[in-house]
Amino acid sequence: RRSKQQRALQIYALARDFYRALLSRDVGAKAVEYLAGRNLSETVRETFQLGYAPEGWDNLTKFLTAKGISVDELVKLGLAQSKAPGRCYDRFRNRIIFPIWDPQGRVVGFGGRTMGDDLPKYLNSPEGEYFNKGQLLYGLHLARRGIREQGYAVLMEGYVDVVSTYQHGVTNAVASLGTAFTREQGKLLMNYTHQVVIAYDSDSAGVKAAVRAAEILQELGGQVRIATIPEGKDPDEFIQKYGQPGWADVIKNAVSLIQFKLLQAVKQYGLREKKKILLEVLPNLAAVASPLELEEAIQQTATVLQVNWETVLAEVKKFKRNSR
Ligand code: CTP
Ligand code: MN
Ligand code: MN
Ligand code: MN
Ligand code: MN
Repeated sequence: RRSKQQRALQIYALARDFYRALLSRDVGAKAVEYLAGRNLSETVRETFQLGYAPEGWDNLTKFLTAKGISVDELVKLGLAQSKAPGRCYDRFRNRIIFPIWDPQGRVVGFGGRTMGDDLPKYLNSPEGEYFNKGQLLYGLHLARRGIREQGYAVLMEGYVDVVSTYQHGVTNAVASLGTAFTREQGKLLMNYTHQVVIAYDSDSAGVKAAVRAAEILQELGGQVRIATIPEGKDPDEFIQKYGQPGWADVIKNAVSLIQFKLLQAVKQYGLREKKKILLEVLPNLAAVASPLELEEAIQQTATVLQVNWETVLAEVKKFKRNSR
């Protein structure tokens, strides 16, 4: 059982090295050009072990079967897809390759980005014995040190967000590999820190998912703030434009879940709809356990709604009575 796992990890490592090596060969020139076009330095390319899966149906398959790995194993590990018994084709073709690691830094899967507009934009390893997207956080093994040193983690959506912000000195970021943050990912992160700043894309999917992720993390005992990336950008686009000083402001301006929901509701309904806005945050207010935090949250709510804090407190009490 153990040696089976070791063999799988070895095969993933071989695949990673294969993809990586191609970045310095002629066939990889357009991948290097793509990465350079996205302003990703050679240093982060290496830190994040980026690679290139070439065009053609069986480059990786040939490379690995020549090393004594069977077609069956390649298919089971999600590196190839089967077309007939004993025959298969490479899963990743003509894509930029992002290795995905477990918390120990061992490769357990890959994400492959197209360099063009074809879909899917990202093709990931299939869910399997070693790769479970909902249980991994991209970049965690590299961020562990930054998280410890800075005392908090930043949660982002995507591969490029983590790589690009790392290049600008943000060494405490991990990505949930999309917007669907899970409880398992929350528990994993809580092993390293309870302080989390969520920095999802500032589109409507990102905003919704940030609220959801914050609720999960709070349930697990996390101290969460939510950042808003200005101008509708994602962390990569933002830091490329405004650099580390801009990023520091984004983190500084991150707000509590309640404040975030209030601001979103004001945007959505307008300030006149006080009742609707209040309804959005009443469940959150009612769930605040610490009296000190509750006072602060009530103050914030009263300020945003431009009402007396006593009014908000009365509403919270009423809500608690009714939901008993
Ligand atoms: N994702 C995925 N499959 C997709 C789209 C997205 O797995 N078809 C995951 C990837 O991990 C991706 C993240 O969701 O990094 C965030 O998606 P998105 O914001 O659309 O992509 P970006 O990270 O911004 O990628 P890029 O900057 O390369 O466009
Ligand atoms: Mn803990
Ligand atoms: Mn997104
Ligand atoms: Mn992006
Ligand atoms: Mn994005």
